[in-house]
Amino acid sequence: MFLANLKLHPAFTVGAVERELFGGFVEHLGRHIYGGIYEPGHPTAGPDGFRRDVVDLVRELGISHVRYPGGNFVSAYDWEDGVGPVADRPRRLDLAWHSIEPNEVGLHEFSDWLDLVGADLMLGTNLGTRGVRETLHLLEYANVPAGTARSDERRENGREEPFDVRMWCLGNELDGDWQIGAKTAEEYGRLAKVTARAMRAIDQDLKLAACGSSWRGMPTFGVWERTVLEHAFEEIDYISCHAYYHEVDGDAASFLASGVDMDDFIESVVHTIEHARAVKGSKRRIDLSFDEWNIWYQDPDEIDTASWPIAPRLLENQYSVTDAVVLGGLLISLLKHADRVTAANLAQLVNVIAPIMTEPGGPAWRQTTFFPFAATSRLATGTALRGALDAPSVATAKFGDVPAIDAVATLDGDRAAVFVLNRSVDDTAEFAIDIAALDLDGPVRAQGIWDEDRHAKNTLDQPERVTLRENTKISRENGTVTVELPPVSWTCITIG
Ligand code: AHR
Repeated sequence: MFLANLKLHPAFTVGAVERELFGGFVEHLGRHIYGGIYEPGHPTAGPDGFRRDVVDLVRELGISHVRYPGGNFVSAYDWEDGVGPVADRPRRLDLAWHSIEPNEVGLHEFSDWLDLVGADLMLGTNLGTRGVRETLHLLEYANVPAGTARSDERRENGREEPFDVRMWCLGNELDGDWQIGAKTAEEYGRLAKVTARAMRAIDQDLKLAACGSSWRGMPTFGVWERTVLEHAFEEIDYISCHAYYHEVDGDAASFLASGVDMDDFIESVVHTIEHARAVKGSKRRIDLSFDEWNIWYQDPDEIDTASWPIAPRLLENQYSVTDAVVLGGLLISLLKHADRVTAANLAQLVNVIAPIMTEPGGPAWRQTTFFPFAATSRLATGTALRGALDAPSVATAKFGDVPAIDAVATLDGDRAAVFVLNRSVDDTAEFAIDIAALDLDGPVRAQGIWDEDRHAKNTLDQPERVTLRENTKISRENGTVTVELPPVSWTCITIG
């Protein structure tokens, strides 16, 4: 057992917790759409082909908005293929995932699905094989009310009112040589600038995210961001960050410290933004859209390049308790930076590195990672507070000594929530939270993810093996709440 404590004070405010911190991501990839959210003939499917059991789980997950339609897929996608009568839509080669795209689901159908799950759209535009012209056509189709060729085409296709898409991604990971239509930073920075400028000529009130690096391990990381910002600073609202983590060779200690890496990544990009702002003498504020983040065990051999299947099983990671604990830790990292990370998207949502899994003709279930996301999305409201944390260190091979505990709190009127990670692989923590300065009454409660078997997973055969557990080892005495945190655990504590 080790001791750790967190002192909370309203003066330690980081910033407002934007709802857009809890976005999801749906890509045309594997069984995400076809055989995932969309399965005509499934016992729970409506006349629209969308599975209602999946809709219910997505609602329970609590996502604010969904990035769509990719990812790598978007970089060779023609959005026009996905509108108009379904029977007339072309089948295409999806070069990103070596699959056939049947185009049964496109902008209209996906928007209808978003209405079912109660989330907004963050639309990606193809700046890989296409550019300004096609993006403007898409924007006109989506957002102009009526009276122009594209907007009237939308109305003829059955949608009288505009989709009114507010959040847009200017391409995807165009620094990566795997990306169809990859670009240099100079090429992309200029394209992002002219595209954004033209889009604003149609609609001033858009939130535009330019591509940052595909991940911070890219050889051009930092220089890419600086160059893109030099070109597009006055036109964009966000620069994107992407990060995926996984456990390597059983090194749980390093894996549990993934949030240290995410913290540093975020702070590096914020510094790069502020450098660009200083050089330009600009007053503009650019934030981070962390529009892909998750745990991902990549298998470079899983794509079958000898065939072109429809909806193959790809990226179907099964997540363990440890994965869920780390995912909860990554949410803590995002919340600690709520002042600058004002949009984020868990990548992805159903079947593909996803919190929700489905079986064709069968059930849908929650992966372990579902629980920390759903709880954080539900409880993290109001403002984020960092707090003064005092905790011992644990040694990691990858990041050196790191604090054994990571934590963040949110304060919303007379209610607070504290999210906390115990990174120790072996030891329970006695964690004391000093809330004297918050003036909160009401009950305290702790729930979390931990297990005797940190490798336990939810599967088709055992879909409820892992769930959010009640932690009864919590007490409150005057201004201090004390909780026992098991090793390898993520916990959310509510006060009030
Ligand atoms: O989320 C899976 C893939 O990861 C996305 O298509 C791509 O943007 C990233 O490399």
